[in-house]
Amino acid sequence: MEVISGRRAWQDMMASWSRSGSRVGLCPTMGAIHAGHLSLVRHSQAQCDRTVVSIFVNPTQFTLARDLETYPRPLKEDLALLQTAGVDAVFVPEVHEIYPAYPEVSDVVLSVGRLGESFEGRDRPGHFSAVATVVSILLNLTQADSVFFGEKDFQQLCVVKAVIRDLGMATQVVAVPTIRESDGLAMSSRNGRLSGEGRREALVIARALGDAQACARSGGHALSVRSAMHERLASCTAFSLSYAELVDINTFSPVPPETTKGTYRAVIAGVIEGVRLLDNAAVSFPSS
Ligand code: PAF
Repeated sequence: MEVISGRRAWQDMMASWSRSGSRVGLCPTMGAIHAGHLSLVRHSQAQCDRTVVSIFVNPTQFTLARDLETYPRPLKEDLALLQTAGVDAVFVPEVHEIYPAYPEVSDVVLSVGRLGESFEGRDRPGHFSAVATVVSILLNLTQADSVFFGEKDFQQLCVVKAVIRDLGMATQVVAVPTIRESDGLAMSSRNGRLSGEGRREALVIARALGDAQACARSGGHALSVRSAMHERLASCTAFSLSYAELVDINTFSPVPPETTKGTYRAVIAGVIEGVRLLDNAAVSFPSS
């Protein structure tokens, strides 16, 4: 497995693979590799000739300096996991390889408009602009045929699809289903910051999503689906709600309350023990 930190060396390797006709799949990460990332790798390996991973803790997408400082960086363990998984190359750039002017703000930063300002974007101003910018840079440097994103960060997935569509990039976006623990908790590098009790409380999120799906299946409308989620989440005093909403899968707009047709996404975010947790699930009404 090649481990490369310079952007020029990375571009040269990607160009040589492309010339030899290899289809390249990119899995962008911020490290702290877990089963969710390894699932992206497996999906890429099934569809592409070469699978590459980027590990870059993107400083511009953190709202709080403390979160950036404390973000886990177990590089040695990450590389061992990726090597065992059969990854072909890992890009581990220093910050100036991505942002040559850093710590000055780059001259060029993408704006993602309304899609980036609601939900996660409302709670973390500038976050999606920073994600859109870094993903564009990584895609430009890699020229991947496909890029793999987990559905766990569903709004991020929508933002990336919009960037690729609107900028006319040739890369195909592949959405990979969320990997869950056996009790339903969505895997995340943040789960490790919860106590045993907090970890148990966090299951309220997956249960609220299950309630939303059951409510739609049994003839509810969008408003009752939303209420079902809120009721369940309110039953957990340790959970501090950011949002729980039923949204359109492309625009992330809330679904009108009377809706009883179609397939949407229930999205939930909130905080337990100071740890921000997100999850989402497809919700289909029976008449769709
Ligand atoms: O999901 C992540 O880990 C990050 O937001 C990403 C896509 C690697 C961009 O920094």
